[in-house]
Amino acid sequence: TPDVRPLVAGNWKMNGTGESLDELRMIVNRPNSAIGEKIDALICVPATLVFRAAQSVEGEALSIGGQDCHFKKSGAHTGDISAEMLKDAGASHVIVGHSERRTDHGETDAVVNAKAKAGWDAGLVAIICVGETEAQRKAGSTLDVISTQLAGSIPDNANARNTIIAYEPVWAIGTGLTPTADDVQQVHASIRAALEKRFAADGGKMRILYGGSVKPANAVELLGVANVDGALVGGASLKAADFLAICEAY
Ligand code: G3P
Repeated sequence: TPDVRPLVAGNWKMNGTGESLDELRMIVNRPNSAIGEKIDALICVPATLVFRAAQSVEGEALSIGGQDCHFKKSGAHTGDISAEMLKDAGASHVIVGHSERRTDHGETDAVVNAKAKAGWDAGLVAIICVGETEAQRKAGSTLDVISTQLAGSIPDNANARNTIIAYEPVWAIGTGLTPTADDVQQVHASIRAALEKRFAADGGKMRILYGGSVKPANAVELLGVANVDGALVGGASLKAADFLAICEAY
């Protein structure tokens, strides 16, 4: 999208211990990378690493995010983590509604919506994920599914500063499969149209990331598609060299 600064975001999922912090240092220490110049970069680490990750890249052009938060501020929710806790630990962003959360934890659009609001209340940018399953794609219902997820998962007060959308076709996650550039273009155009209809000018500026098997080898093609304002990268974000190579698409 013209006049939208791209964001390349990593999602480490349930991977990483203290020694993985070296990868973050390698990212910020790469000379002449696009990060901080042409693009923004973010790594969403496991909750256990947010504090150390944020400390180890303090002052650098790499933001640290969480991968989920509870929709409530605090209380009797053993094992859960609030948005305020992520913020306090040094996160600036939080992913909500990732398909793995929707599947593994039965998160509905309403829950995702509440989590996005909880993120905002704590001062975090919410990265709201949507995407169709393989069966839905085969049934030809991709655009309907995405439109329903967007309508339900994005709270009313979303704007281009507090919200980022990530389109992740479920069948493309961790599989090495990706949609064609034409398919990505079609879905991103429909997301853009829905955002503009609902949020007017802000909808035109809200970042729409593509996620699902983004690798150095396909980054130039996928990130060059209209209305693709960056990537949400899983597996290839675990190694600094791969993440940096994806950033070099810009
Ligand atoms: O959130 C990113 C993700 O779901 C994509 O994972 O491993 O296919 O890049 P991967």
